[in-house]
Amino acid sequence: MTRKAIDSPTLSRRIMSAEAAAALIAPGTTVGMSGFTGSGYPKAVPMALAARIEAAHAAGQAFQVKVWTGASTGPELDGALAKANGVEFRLPYNSDPLARDRINRGEMDYFDMHLSQVAPMALQGFLGPLDTALIEVTGITADGALVPSSSVGNNPTWLDRAGQVILEFNRWQNPALEGMHDIYSVGLPPHRQPIPLVRPNDRIGSPYLHCPADKIVAIVETDTPDRNQSFRAPAAAETAIAGHLIEFFEHEVARGRLPPTLLPLQSGVGNIANAVLAGLLKARFEGMSAYTEVLQDGMLDLMEAGKLDTASTTALSLSPEAAARLNREMHLYRDRLVLRPQEISNSPEVIHRLGCLAMNGMLEADIYGAVNSTHVMGSRIQNGIGGSGDFARNAYISIFMAPSTAKDGKISTIVPKVSHVDHINQDVQVVVTEQGLADLRGLSPRHRARVMIANCAHPDYRAALQDYYDRALHNPYGGQAPTLLTEALSWHQRFIETGSMRA
Ligand code: COA
Repeated sequence: MTRKAIDSPTLSRRIMSAEAAAALIAPGTTVGMSGFTGSGYPKAVPMALAARIEAAHAAGQAFQVKVWTGASTGPELDGALAKANGVEFRLPYNSDPLARDRINRGEMDYFDMHLSQVAPMALQGFLGPLDTALIEVTGITADGALVPSSSVGNNPTWLDRAGQVILEFNRWQNPALEGMHDIYSVGLPPHRQPIPLVRPNDRIGSPYLHCPADKIVAIVETDTPDRNQSFRAPAAAETAIAGHLIEFFEHEVARGRLPPTLLPLQSGVGNIANAVLAGLLKARFEGMSAYTEVLQDGMLDLMEAGKLDTASTTALSLSPEAAARLNREMHLYRDRLVLRPQEISNSPEVIHRLGCLAMNGMLEADIYGAVNSTHVMGSRIQNGIGGSGDFARNAYISIFMAPSTAKDGKISTIVPKVSHVDHINQDVQVVVTEQGLADLRGLSPRHRARVMIANCAHPDYRAALQDYYDRALHNPYGGQAPTLLTEALSWHQRFIETGSMRA
């Protein structure tokens, strides 16, 4: 049953303006908001809250809140609150540039976490109390059940934990989303339940979110679109990365190590991930599936082309053009697409059982295959680890991708040692740059170094990497992964001092 408005008479009496709802959020409290990428995040109340914070600051009063979400959100939430200097603490993921600057200047505390761990840690009380849940919904049924929006994220947990609940009922969201969600909770140890999913599109829970009516203190009506960025056409390096990866998949199929349908795809955020999906569109794999946390344009294209049968995600991270396409043709996807809480979409148990092919972006990898996804020059946060750790450690094959250089060639993304470690060698099985692919499975560190330098490094940096490695081999201390400690991070230091890693 779809609806034009809020069907519950009790709850329709709690409709108020965004300003009145924002006034219910007290300084110093914690707000658990919906949102995962630019999808399903509250749009009106965060803006009103930011205005209230700015007014308080202008009057010389302190006013900040702590913000928890599913992952990144849109400019009306992270951007507006960061501009107002309204966030004291943020978790678990951010990609907003204003918030990033505040975090890197030390003006905002930030805890970036494995996305699968946020809900259990909040539920266990490890993160402290949650005062308010601020959740976007697509509808409210006559008996008060909530129809989730274009992302689920941590919403079930926020509704469960929060003292009070504010809902944004967004009329822009497609009413046909009703029925496409699968809300399932695993509970806490010692009574935690298994997740009985054996195929990406299995349904094991309820299509609705539930919340006691007396906790809902405000409902704000909005009509504002989700705001995900458009994807640009793949750059040459990204197309080359996609080509290497597809050749690798073909090889694995030929060797009988992957079925011809591949295994459920997980594809990370950003342009490279989208380029790989565009490459898969031209490849000969059919009957594919996806078990992922973000569904980007490329996956929709694969579904439209009949190559991707089913997909499970926690967020529809579609460009405005692709979102419009999906909204027009939702009937074609209703039974093939499932939206889940991120505790389930990123569950190590399910990722391992399904045998996902994890494909994530990276900032840099070192010659032994450790990966840095988060901290530029070891210090400055870019976004956060997001779901990459959930998938990398538990995948059937864990793949990391990046162009071999960044910043117009001034940075080599293959380095003697990563300046920060998100993914240890054991969690990184395949590294791909436009230069080629390093299949590191089963290789010793010394063997890994040879393959990484030969296959992935840019020619401008290859000789310098080889020279570093050759000298490290003669390090009098020896070792299974020879390292020259005084030189290992010297490339990064040179970049900081001269603007280039080139000697
Ligand atoms: N050193 C310094 N800067 C680097 C760099 C390096 N080794 N590699 C890339 N960059 C810079 C780029 O120049 C770019 O800077 P800009 O924004 O000023 O233009 C920025 O980092 C982003 O890089 P880009 O090439 O556009 O890659 P991307 O959009 O594919 O993002 C990550 C790459 C690593 C930032 C992104 O994949 C990420 O945040 N990963 C962690 C989260 C994750 O993997 N989630 C997956 C589950 S959804």
